[in-house]
Amino acid sequence: MNITVNAKKTLLVDGPASVTVTSGRVEVFGYVMDKGKVIIRDGKRMPFTVLENATFDVSLGENACVEEVEGSTIPESWEKAFEELCSIKSRPAVAMIIGAPDSGKTSFCTYLINRLLASKPKIAILDGDLGQSDIGPPCTVSYTFVSKPIADLFNLESENAFFVGVTSPSKAMEKTIQGLTLLRDEILQKSPDFIIVNTDGWIEGEDAIKYKAQLAERLFPNIIFAIQQDERLNPLLDMIRVYRVLTIDSPNAIKQRSREKRRSLRELGYLKYLKNAKVQSIPLSWVRIENGEHLALARNFTDSRREREINELLKIKPLHFAESTDKLLLVFGGNRHIPEEDLRKLEEAFGKKAVVIFDEEAEGLLIALYNSGNKFLGVGVIREVDYRRKVMKICTPVSGSISTVKIGKVRLDKNLREHPFSEELIKQES
Ligand SMILES: Nc1ncnc2c1ncn2[C@@H]1O[C@H](COP(=O)(O)OP(=O)(O)OP(=O)(O)O)[C@@H](O)[C@H]1O
Ligand SMILES: [Mg+2]
Repeated sequence: MNITVNAKKTLLVDGPASVTVTSGRVEVFGYVMDKGKVIIRDGKRMPFTVLENATFDVSLGENACVEEVEGSTIPESWEKAFEELCSIKSRPAVAMIIGAPDSGKTSFCTYLINRLLASKPKIAILDGDLGQSDIGPPCTVSYTFVSKPIADLFNLESENAFFVGVTSPSKAMEKTIQGLTLLRDEILQKSPDFIIVNTDGWIEGEDAIKYKAQLAERLFPNIIFAIQQDERLNPLLDMIRVYRVLTIDSPNAIKQRSREKRRSLRELGYLKYLKNAKVQSIPLSWVRIENGEHLALARNFTDSRREREINELLKIKPLHFAESTDKLLLVFGGNRHIPEEDLRKLEEAFGKKAVVIFDEEAEGLLIALYNSGNKFLGVGVIREVDYRRKVMKICTPVSGSISTVKIGKVRLDKNLREHPFSEELIKQES
């Protein structure tokens, strides 16, 4: 479908769609283009501000749509924010972006980067949003450098990432801050001019405020851009008064997304880093496993005498068992029923809590793979843990030699669809 739009108007396109600019000049989040194709994912909206009368070749997917509006949908305060950032003379200049979900954080980062690129500085984007990550896989924080104007940060690959393993920092505040600090230090070694730090939309409540304040303390930004939609941001703004904070507007044309849409956008993030994945088997003794205690995958002290005692008391041999100071974890196949009274006997004899787990509980868990230098290699999914043979089957595009497997709390099915309550389930299990 060909669409002609006159200057000083904006074409809003809701994905899934592909838009090719065939003539004229347009601007997408500060990226001025006179030709080129932009893909808009389902759940996303892209504004094409027309600078010189333009024609577009638009292909719309299911439920996609286009709309023409007057003027630009980029708030004037975004332009002022860009000027304010340019006025900071120290290098690197670190800018942190905060705002509620769907307030325009990613779009504003894209806008700042595109505008900054006109003077060819070295710009790093540090993506601190675990759930709606633009750069790295979901459940990670990540960074990359941007050297060319871009319509959608999602098209960039991460240069390095840190696996947190959950989709919200509320479940891993310290770990997320640790990851972002480590990555920031790595970026600093590469002499950037600007570091743009995007954050997640968790801004309400005591913990959220504490988290953002601690993050600011650790990253020490030269400026914080706060995208304010309503008064919800005020308590957080109060907490970060010591920083140079510039409040900016959320665009009126913003597209709000449902929880389901956010999840399906995240699933595209898994797909980005799991396409071309192959199944490989890793003997458990070859790798260090982190966060696998609840699956009896941590190294532990066991011996054959203990094993005999367990077998005798339960009258059935578990596939595998692991012992920590206060717990005895017993792995069984299928949904085998173990009588409560036998477990109580075992608890009495061992003086610790007996926890039954089933071998399929590991299936589908998102994992991150690291090499011996602790370099993040990529993500994968556990297909199966064969406790008897002590082998883990994983599906991953990573081909290098794996030395550590970090286990996440998100569960994906074979089509990379997220199990809706996976993180909650594991919380109960552990
Ligand atoms: N000026 C604008 N005009 C039209 N659409 C916009 C504009 N700014 C942002 N959008 C669209 O609104 C949606 C939400 O914006 P964006 O993804 O930047 O918000 P966010 O705060 O990063 O959200 P999340 O919390 O999901 O990370 C996106 O589809 C984006 O493309
Ligand atoms: Mg975002």
